[in-house]
Amino acid sequence: MRAEDHQQLLRLWSSFPGNTITGADSDREFRKFLQRNRGFCFTACDGNEVVGSVMAGSDRRRGYIYHLAVCADLQGRGLGSALMKKAEEALAKAGLEKAHLFIYRDNPAVVFYEKAGWHAREDITLMSKALGGDSEKGTIDSTRSIT
Ligand SMILES: CC(C)(COP(=O)(O)OP(=O)(O)OC[C@H]1O[C@@H](n2cnc3c(N)ncnc32)[C@H](O)[C@@H]1OP(=O)(O)O)[C@@H](O)C(=O)NCCC(=O)NCCS
Repeated sequence: MRAEDHQQLLRLWSSFPGNTITGADSDREFRKFLQRNRGFCFTACDGNEVVGSVMAGSDRRRGYIYHLAVCADLQGRGLGSALMKKAEEALAKAGLEKAHLFIYRDNPAVVFYEKAGWHAREDITLMSKALGGDSEKGTIDSTRSIT
């Protein structure tokens, strides 16, 4: 994944209803994420067109997966699985033993993740807090925003 993919990625992510774009997806934050997580973020491309994405990151204790997406026309052909394999391999190679991801319970992609070996945690409640101050970072712009 390259910094210059940002606009295409925003279009891809916005094409899925319920996939919220937040201040964390601004050009500045996107570039910072890529720099901090070199070798963890991947696109699938058809020529120059970005048709799939996954962004993995780590806090050096655990890995995290964000923005797995495959354009609607190309779903069901193994691209999502291939992207996840790349991300998981990169995290494992960096020595991370476990990874987490956030997904709405009603997203059908839960089935995709279960098939890929992920399991839902019933023992954990995700707690979030908006940390204010830097307007350029954006606000949590939806009541339905998990990341
Ligand atoms: C999730 C997503 C990336 C999967 O991409 P994909 O390229 O279609 O996935 P694959 O072709 O590798 O599918 C692998 C398996 O998961 C299953 N699967 C994929 N998406 C599924 C879905 N939405 N519902 C049920 N099963 C699904 C496939 O049928 C396949 O099963 P099989 O191995 O038994 O044949 C794609 O559906 C997507 O972009 N969804 C919208 C964005 C999104 O919600 N991302 C997750 C945000 S947390």
